[in-house]
Amino acid sequence: MTLRTSVGIIGAGPAGVLLAHLLHRAGIESVVLENRSRDYVERRVRAGVLEPGSAQLLRDAGVGDRLDREGLEHGGIHLRFGGESHRIDFKELTGRGIFVYGQQEVVKDLVQARIDAGAPILFEAEAREIRGIDEQRPSILFSYQGHQEWLECDYVAACDGSHGIGRATMLARGAVMYERNYPHAWLGILAATPPAADELIYAYHERGFALHSMRSPTVSRLYLQVPSGETLEEWPVERIWSALRQRLNEPLLEEGEILDVGITAMTSLVIEPMQSGRLFLAGDSAHIVPPTGAKGMNLALADVAVLAAALTERIKGGRSETMSSYTVNCLQRVWRAEYFSNFMTQLLHREPLEDDFDNRLHLAQLRYLTSSSAASRSLAENYTGAATGTVALAKSGLDS
Ligand code: APR
Ligand code: PHB
Repeated sequence: MTLRTSVGIIGAGPAGVLLAHLLHRAGIESVVLENRSRDYVERRVRAGVLEPGSAQLLRDAGVGDRLDREGLEHGGIHLRFGGESHRIDFKELTGRGIFVYGQQEVVKDLVQARIDAGAPILFEAEAREIRGIDEQRPSILFSYQGHQEWLECDYVAACDGSHGIGRATMLARGAVMYERNYPHAWLGILAATPPAADELIYAYHERGFALHSMRSPTVSRLYLQVPSGETLEEWPVERIWSALRQRLNEPLLEEGEILDVGITAMTSLVIEPMQSGRLFLAGDSAHIVPPTGAKGMNLALADVAVLAAALTERIKGGRSETMSSYTVNCLQRVWRAEYFSNFMTQLLHREPLEDDFDNRLHLAQLRYLTSSSAASRSLAENYTGAATGTVALAKSGLDS
């Protein structure tokens, strides 16, 4: 069987489902292919910080109601180190706060909007091959319910994350991959315990980094730096809580049932260009950031705001300028976020061979960041997206 549509979208993560939604609002048909089940993508625990521009993008797209009801707005973060704790006041420094709202909640809202619109989204449909991206009608070969099918389209958007076929196809066509691997990973837990503080705590400790975050007034999200390659067997529950207590140094932290636990590797990666012929990469398929700067979901959403605007201009308006400059329009923002995420990672993590000298350098930089208003503002601008132009880009995706 061959399906036909205007834009073939691979992947129902935040990038894929937001792109489908924005195109639908612009009157453009698309089909989303997702190799996992709906239940799986809606439950997968991922990051959870939205810049104000990303939150506004979702609101403007008509999918911000639950975010506004259940999302937690934060005016700043805490940096904790060497027995000190300092608040970086984002609102005061930039006039903007951030929202804590799980990535799977964003995905849930957008999948629901897609289903309410009666628009096609196929779960357990695995894209196997992308063909003909230099021709008028490229197509995607996919397997679905035991059959091989074709999706014929005008454009292909590979929103298929870091292990998808979009990136592999682009690399086979000569795209360049810039990559850095870190010697760390994050062990993350979701725990049934009320957040110990009302905002995020980024803690630098001699034994390694720890992060206190949350998902609701009764559920906390907590992370620990562990060496890359570490396995969960090395982290029995008691060791996790004891390391969190030691590194976060937070007397109000209480243990609770662990609802989810996992270890995530840390990588920085950018593919250039992000487009070739009629194939476009967006989100994790095009770039990865370590989670320390909380940029992954924001980059994915901003990419598809740009891509939706470009495709709309091309398909509805017959103009192709924005489409041909998709890569250029994204890369400046992407590299800014790469820089910031790498900076936050180096600032807050201990490298395996670091000594006391390095420890004192970390502390000196943390003291500077928390005592100089210029340095604090710089961090606040980057964290909230004020320095990366996400808001303007998000808007350009909607005005079309
Ligand atoms: N066919 C169909 N679907 C696929 C295929 C394939 N061959 N390969 C991957 N997928 C699906 C995955 O199952 C996943 O649901 O593509 C989706 C990609 O979604 P994400 O990994 O969430 O990527 P993206 O939408 O770009 O969002 C980036 O995710 O990892 C976090 O920190 C990252 O917050 C950022 C966000
Ligand atoms: C999260 O809440 O999952 C989270 C918060 C901040 C980060 C990374 C993840 O930097």
